[in-house]
Amino acid sequence: MLNILVVGTGYVGLTTGTGLAELGHKVYCIDKDLSKIEVLNNNQIPIYEPGLLELVQKNIRENRLSFHNDLKPYIFNTDIIFLAVGTPENEDGSANLSYLYQAVRDIISCNITKAYIVIKSTVPVNTNNNICKIFQQELPDAQVEIISNPEFLREGFAVHDFFNPARTLIGLNSDNAKEIIEIVYKKFIEKNIPIFFTDPNSAELAKYAANAFLATKIAFINEISDLCEYYNANIEDVATSMGLDDRIGKKFLKVGPGFGGSCFPKDILALNKLSVDANRPSMIVSAVIEANRIRTKNMSDKILKILDGTIKRKKITCLGASFKANTDDIRESPALKIIEELINLGSIVNLYDPVAIENVKKIYSNKICYFKNITEACDDTNAIIILTEWEEFKGFDFASVKDIVLNNVIIDLRNILNKDNIIKQGFKYYPLGI
Ligand code: UGA
Repeated sequence: MLNILVVGTGYVGLTTGTGLAELGHKVYCIDKDLSKIEVLNNNQIPIYEPGLLELVQKNIRENRLSFHNDLKPYIFNTDIIFLAVGTPENEDGSANLSYLYQAVRDIISCNITKAYIVIKSTVPVNTNNNICKIFQQELPDAQVEIISNPEFLREGFAVHDFFNPARTLIGLNSDNAKEIIEIVYKKFIEKNIPIFFTDPNSAELAKYAANAFLATKIAFINEISDLCEYYNANIEDVATSMGLDDRIGKKFLKVGPGFGGSCFPKDILALNKLSVDANRPSMIVSAVIEANRIRTKNMSDKILKILDGTIKRKKITCLGASFKANTDDIRESPALKIIEELINLGSIVNLYDPVAIENVKKIYSNKICYFKNITEACDDTNAIIILTEWEEFKGFDFASVKDIVLNNVIIDLRNILNKDNIIKQGFKYYPLGI
């Protein structure tokens, strides 16, 4: 059992800290945002993440997990420090490392003599090396090892992904660092989950490459979907048959309104910036950025075309606001970009989302009409547009609202409904790529 300090209680820090506590370690989670610490100390969590609240409460109860707003009182009693602060994008697309360097300064100000510091945050290549140099300059007598351990947690499945990682990726430079990492992840090693050891630069680049590759798959399948519409083919069959080839793999071939969230859009920009900085501009990465940018515009054009070229003063029901199902996260949500475009075109948007409404209200306030369920959101509307793939939408009995949807139009930008059933119920159904 180790004493671990986790700096940052966003969805990565909170999931990682809680997961490490569940593995048996004693974890002190630190965040400068007092309101977050207050929520956590009240046995609640500041985000919607299935399964996480129960696990946080269990580990608090069992005395392995606690939340604080200053690292000083705990740092001398810890074996290893995890930095999991945000790295949002700068205006030029590069990753903003100010929170990370602030955390480094906070550690330096404690005058530590020895530390293992793990970088969980997604950071540009060479960041681990740069942090190492900062410690050498600022605390030349201290023995500090910097270890890269990028995260691969999907929002909505973060708890599952923590305990069932495809791999644990570690970039380090010394046997001592390797030894302590093997203690941190002892339970994973016992379960034969591979730890892949490499150098810090490779680990940092691998994280960006993984996200960019998945984003590329999505952008690619979305383009193929457009071709399916033109050539009268079926994207679901095309994607399924592609995925049956295990060299391609069936995951991340689901057509949709484009990728969003707090990771892919920012990470692909950061990788693009890294490639430009290296004087090796990536044709592929820049094309994916552009393809995803025009995707939401194309979706609004499609909606407009289906609704006969005008939606001014027309009421439209939008189902889903989060960037994907199982999260209340609306950052870079394609759903919201489309909703915004509809509003700009003059339509009245009725919105229902199972968990994200409160976050939407903070930004859009009364520009959107909010509803507590699907039925109320559909009253007297001209069309229903499905923007997020929530299970609740898949299971909903749309026949029950048919008489209150004026034009009987359903535009399904996630291809989640059964085409034959919906048409049988009397709807005009418009999925993607079919
Ligand atoms: C992503 C990665 O999947 C994680 O491995 C990684 O750790 C995380 O970023 C991160 O860097 O922190 P996440 O952003 O939670 O996780 O979401 P994904 O499930 O990957 O979906 C990203 C976007 O792609 C969503 O907008 C989703 O709707 C879209 N998507 C995904 C598709 O349009 N089609 C697909 O087949 C899959």
